[in-house]
Amino acid sequence: MEIIIQPTPEAGGIIAARIIAKLVRTKPDCVLGLATGSTPLATYRELVRMHHDEGLDFSRVTTFNLDEYVGLPPEHPHSYHAFMDEHFFGHVNVPRARIHIPDGMARDVPAECARYEAAIVAAAGIDLQLLGIGTDGHIGFNEPSSSLASRTRIKTLTERTRADNARFFGGDLAQVPFHCITMGVGTIMASREVLMLAFGARKADAVAAAVEGPITAMNPASMLQMHAVAKCVVDEPAAAKLSRRDYYRWVFANKPDWQRIA
Ligand code: PGA
Repeated sequence: MEIIIQPTPEAGGIIAARIIAKLVRTKPDCVLGLATGSTPLATYRELVRMHHDEGLDFSRVTTFNLDEYVGLPPEHPHSYHAFMDEHFFGHVNVPRARIHIPDGMARDVPAECARYEAAIVAAAGIDLQLLGIGTDGHIGFNEPSSSLASRTRIKTLTERTRADNARFFGGDLAQVPFHCITMGVGTIMASREVLMLAFGARKADAVAAAVEGPITAMNPASMLQMHAVAKCVVDEPAAAKLSRRDYYRWVFANKPDWQRIA
């Protein structure tokens, strides 16, 4: 895994946006896997800026989001449909028909999950999957003990995740759904490139376990050690518990020119 340590979440978000923008420029019909939560916000801000200021064109891009809460309709203000509209899709030119987010209102959840997997296959797979990491090491909503081979399915959120996410629901834990539909770890692993972001001291333990610990379903993000093209962008507080952080800094500072992120 390539570890990129940046001074602030803003700087990390800009690096992530440049990685994504480079893909969009070189492969205008690329398939992006997208994430929600606080972590990718700086990335979306920078991509929106690039769209407005530099003409970064998303008109041929296809997107698949990682997850959605079960029981929240798209128009619910705390649904991930609404989140994506507010922070990204409402400001760029991804065609509506190319946007995919699991349907949290599906009557037949297993059928919806199978449909989602089939749609990813029909789009020829995900080129780059953007990820956050939970304080418990989840990616998507693959909580600890998730099968490392799992595909899109229903999951039950841990109480820790519900508590972490209550801030999006005005701090009201009772409003946070118990279930979600999420891409599986296997779905994420099938993407051609993964880009995980983690910012803040509260992510430091999960990041250290994911990057330097054993591969274990107890920290689903650790499975990314098995991905051939995985990058992890962290700020200093999130990097604080990485024992090899000086080496990661040195690697990033000494990249050959052709590998540099413009
Ligand atoms: P956060 O969530 O970005 O809101 O911290 C990350 C995650 O749960 O994957």
